[in-house]
Amino acid sequence: MRDMTVEELWGCLSSTTDNILVILDDQLRVQFLNDAAKSALHIGEMDYVNQDYFDVMSTLILPNDRDATIISKVFTSGEPSAEFIRKSPDERYFSINAAPMKAGSNIIGVLIVGADITDYIHIQEELDRAFSLTLPDTKIEFKLKTTIEYQDEFNPDTQKIRITGRMLDGGYRHVVNCLRIFSILRSMGVTKVIGIDKTLMTQAFIFHDLGKTQPILQVGDEVDPALLFEDGKLHAARSAELARGYYDVEEDAVTLIKYHHHRETELPSDFPWRLIPAWRLFQLIDGISAAITRVGIAVELNVFDCVVQVNEINNPRPQYNGTRQIDLYSGQVTYGIDMLPGSVWVSGKCITKYTRGQMI
Ligand SMILES: [Fe+2]
Ligand SMILES: [Fe+2]
Repeated sequence: MRDMTVEELWGCLSSTTDNILVILDDQLRVQFLNDAAKSALHIGEMDYVNQDYFDVMSTLILPNDRDATIISKVFTSGEPSAEFIRKSPDERYFSINAAPMKAGSNIIGVLIVGADITDYIHIQEELDRAFSLTLPDTKIEFKLKTTIEYQDEFNPDTQKIRITGRMLDGGYRHVVNCLRIFSILRSMGVTKVIGIDKTLMTQAFIFHDLGKTQPILQVGDEVDPALLFEDGKLHAARSAELARGYYDVEEDAVTLIKYHHHRETELPSDFPWRLIPAWRLFQLIDGISAAITRVGIAVELNVFDCVVQVNEINNPRPQYNGTRQIDLYSGQVTYGIDMLPGSVWVSGKCITKYTRGQMI
């Protein structure tokens, strides 16, 4: 049997995969599209070779600014860009990676690979619809799905943040992630602890951020978070009032909601101790969910009696990474612990990346 040439091998690989493969040259002109890419882009018989990528791929790759696309950034920076989501004209979703092609220190083009994640998105949409049915009314769904959450980079020198991504339905994702983490801890026994009640926690998670309002920011904006984002205690108080006034939420859940952004030392003197274990668990889960939703951390969880163990990785704010445990009864937090056997990993990556909200 004769050996295959590199060209034959490449042709065989690129035509049999469902993944999109695109090669751009150092002028960002299209040099190669495999069959899956032609199909996704509706190329037909168009002669695409040497055409500018923006003209060939604009439906799939980018919004409107030719000079500020992810692809042009990959080429100029030499840094790859991973897993941004785009919808093709034929209603398919692709998770797209773009990487610079290098010859020595020179960047000679860009390789674009897109995986078809349409099935995954459809499953997620079905689960979303199922979850929506459990909400008391469509106003809550509307509020959660229009509460933006931002991804950002913190600059310690200026104390400012730069917006790097926007998740338009971030409020919804955040609540889903709270419930997801709580359900895992529940499977590990946390609701067997006296004071941790399934209905109480579930109600508190659904309503806790309904009073939140976010500033409208664009990717690239640099802002002082202390000036622009209001104190969390304010939306906590509003959420509590909405939950009590419009949805008849039980008073213990209203209390958890009202104080979910307080420090323990700030709680009023008449705050009932019997609610403290649930309040501590709520704050723990709220924080983990926020990090999963906004930056896609992964977290390892375990429960033993009234102690919850957490091992956080991939948090861009490194002080949060590592293991810790919290005793829900005493409040004691211990860092650098050994995770007990039987712990479970929760990856936030897919939830963050494959959200229907626009990550741009
Ligand atoms: Fe909140
Ligand atoms: Fe929250």
